[in-house]
Amino acid sequence: MRRFSILVGDITHSDAEAIVNAANTTLLGGSGVDGAIHRAAGPRLLEACRSLGGCETGQARLTPGYDLPAKYVLHTPGPIWQGGGQNEAALLASCYRSCLSLAAEHGIRTVDFSSISTGVYGYPLHQAAAVALRAIMDFLADHDLPQQVRLVCHTEKTAAVYRQTWNLWYAGNKAERL
Ligand code: APR
Repeated sequence: MRRFSILVGDITHSDAEAIVNAANTTLLGGSGVDGAIHRAAGPRLLEACRSLGGCETGQARLTPGYDLPAKYVLHTPGPIWQGGGQNEAALLASCYRSCLSLAAEHGIRTVDFSSISTGVYGYPLHQAAAVALRAIMDFLADHDLPQQVRLVCHTEKTAAVYRQTWNLWYAGNKAERL
């Protein structure tokens, strides 16, 4: 089984054990994928998030998925793009690592990521894809869990950029191209 893949879809429909929410530091919901996940999970998710007392950029918090098909939600506030000189790349990499570490700690086998910071937070997609894939591949090289990680892109355009980055840096041969 390929441990990593990229697909186009609505992450609120994901059947992965955990889905990753591109949250903000309050963890109290918002627009974008954050809004979609809270709408699909129902009001209990907001209650659970309220009790967490927020989350720093680059860190991650785990909650149940409630009315979502996914059992868990990993909430991670990504960096707001400010031109690249405010440690954005390191903070974005930390989002992916923090979510994967938390998943591994809880024995979670499958994780679906949304494309962190590339919407409202304005992180340029090509640069975000390079950071995200590097962080995911470095983590998977050193850990047995999660067994499977997917990047769930909301649009074909977003998926094309992640696939292009994957094929450029990680596909050793034709069979590994996404
Ligand atoms: N499924 C999968 N991906 C989605 C979905 C969905 N249902 N809805 C949006 N996306 C994609 C966007 O197209 C984008 O590629 O998620 C990616 C992240 O975009 P945002 O949701 O805008 O997240 P981000 O850029 O990290 O900004 C976070 O926005 O929603 C608020 O509360 C959130 O303040 C926080 C900020």
